[in-house]
Amino acid sequence: MHCITQYVRSIYQQFVQRMAILDILEYPDPRLRTKAKPIATVTDRHRQLIDDMLETMYDAPGIGLAATQVNVHEQLIVIDVSEGRDTPLVFINPGISVLDDELRAYEEGCLSVPDYQDTVKRPAHVKVQALDRNGDPFEMQPDDLLAVCIQHEMDHLNGKLFVDYLSSLKRQRLRTKIAKRQRAG
Ligand code: NI
Repeated sequence: MHCITQYVRSIYQQFVQRMAILDILEYPDPRLRTKAKPIATVTDRHRQLIDDMLETMYDAPGIGLAATQVNVHEQLIVIDVSEGRDTPLVFINPGISVLDDELRAYEEGCLSVPDYQDTVKRPAHVKVQALDRNGDPFEMQPDDLLAVCIQHEMDHLNGKLFVDYLSSLKRQRLRTKIAKRQRAG
């Protein structure tokens, strides 16, 4: 009996863990300004967090999510920019270098700033180094949307949001809109 109970519980826990949708912090929550710490050793706890963050990102739906946004202040990002939503990417302790001066403008949005998009200019050509979910290092030169997305998510780890790049007038309008929505419930 004991074994069966344990078996049922483990199945249940697996199910619950697979389905874990995390709460996403929303601007202007001050916790989004926290700087994330590097991960010394990638453990099962991190792999569980990665799975939960992917679940949360797909559910939202979004194309990227930084641990900061789910109130975990460690350097971890998940991204999927594929059309089929079947190519999850994980970046732990990401580092970036800008390869040239070219900037590209992209219309960005953010799961922490619902119902708002605006254009941000970022370096077009970058190189990224990070660890994968097993703690193994890798390097890539992302293009287009992926390059934008990685830079956007890395900003989150530094406590920065895409709206920080906008004019103060635009930010003020956004805050007014959010305040109105909060009053309306
Ligand atoms: Ni974002």
